[in-house]
Amino acid sequence: MKKNEEIIVEVIDNGIYGEGIAKVDAIPIFVPNVLIGEKVKIKIIKVLSSYAVGKAIEIIEQSSDRVIPDCSTYFRCGGCNLRHCNYESTIKMKIKSVQNTLSKAIGKNIKVDEVIKMEEPYYYRNKLQYPLGLDKDGKSVMGVYAQRSHIIIPTEHCKIQDKLSQKIANYILKFIKNNCIPVYNEENLKGSLRHLIIRIGKKTNEVMITLVTNTQNIYKEKELIEAVVKEFKEVKTIVKNINSKNTNVILGDKTEILYGDGYIYDYLGKKKFKISPRSFYQINPIQTEKLYCKAIEYANLTGKETVFDLYCGIGTIGIFASDRAKKIYGIETISEAIEDAKENSRINGIENTEFFVGDVEKVLPEIIKDRNLSADVIFIDPPRKGCEKKAIDTFLKIAPKRLVYVSCNPATLGRDIKLLEEKYELLKLTICDMFCFTSHIECVAVLSLK
Ligand SMILES: C[S@@+](CC[C@H](N)C(=O)[O-])C[C@H]1O[C@@H](n2cnc3c(N)ncnc32)[C@H](O)[C@@H]1O
Repeated sequence: MKKNEEIIVEVIDNGIYGEGIAKVDAIPIFVPNVLIGEKVKIKIIKVLSSYAVGKAIEIIEQSSDRVIPDCSTYFRCGGCNLRHCNYESTIKMKIKSVQNTLSKAIGKNIKVDEVIKMEEPYYYRNKLQYPLGLDKDGKSVMGVYAQRSHIIIPTEHCKIQDKLSQKIANYILKFIKNNCIPVYNEENLKGSLRHLIIRIGKKTNEVMITLVTNTQNIYKEKELIEAVVKEFKEVKTIVKNINSKNTNVILGDKTEILYGDGYIYDYLGKKKFKISPRSFYQINPIQTEKLYCKAIEYANLTGKETVFDLYCGIGTIGIFASDRAKKIYGIETISEAIEDAKENSRINGIENTEFFVGDVEKVLPEIIKDRNLSADVIFIDPPRKGCEKKAIDTFLKIAPKRLVYVSCNPATLGRDIKLLEEKYELLKLTICDMFCFTSHIECVAVLSLK
């Protein structure tokens, strides 16, 4: 194989990003936007020692799962990557991907027991997060980054964003343009507004806007706020986050309230949650409710258990489970999220929860020792990188009857289950489709003490 060579291949598998995989002389070629069973003419764009990357230039034989993407910017956008196939086939792909990844990591055949699909897999996101910048003609632009780049694709209508959030975003961009508010220029690090974040409580319809800015002051800030609040009664709060660093990290350290209280509320099931600008809150609340119900079913609670909710964010899983346990202890690294978790317990009239700020790997062993606690069930919901080895060692040491592991990364889930296998066996595994039409996967697994 040589770069720029054009060849005809058959797609035999999928990679973890939903791309197709073909093979030539046993060398895998990764080709985006092609499906298993398709015969495709591709152009080789990269050749490395163990694999190559190709670009589809003609689909010669098409899969029956292929559909025309319902989005005009799909092939350039870095958001969705599975809009070229029907929803059912995205689910099949995810099942296969989880089974392959986990089987490889654990060293035996792992099966997905259940998939929780989304009935209406559109407009599901409760958080819109668009960069602002300049296009090649120097005009202000807002939208989604193109794949593997910082080129902003103007996004006026996105099939996975909440419709009201998109409408507010479009209004703000128009205001920025009409009033010549300077947006951030990544090349010379000048300008002001760099990101627009809009969060909506899907049940309450309350909206929080975060204006991420390079400069302390935003030109026509007062006028912008007055106009937005007048136009959209759903906007309950607007905050300014100052990030002057030359970085890909979106939020800076300093947040100021410009309008309202600095937070919004939403409901998951019957429980009410306070959401602050920096707190983690699952982006698809319809599926989150189903995910948490499955996690609680897996926990098999009777009301007598001592439960840990680790990596608890604003306390959602623990609070969701609090009616069915004796005591819930939550641990989370972000202090504002723990403040929200405490407040969330209070507003829901819950008295059997206690929350701690800090890293699980450090705080869990400390509170177990200091308070002489044992655990019956542990909910584990870490970020993509999974659990630190020290945290896994603590789980093995305190050995609760059940571990319920919620994961947004099958690779680290598999790695951690392999380590936990010393004392635990995997009982059941469910995929909950939270990130429909993207290759992101959310799973929940239950492990039982051997
Ligand atoms: C996937 S989120 C889960 C949050 C929550 N369980 C939920 O469902 O909304 C992971 C959380 O872990 C927190 N986190 C990351 N590393 C951590 C650590 N070492 N110890 C404690 N919390 C951590 C993050 O701040 C984030 O809130």
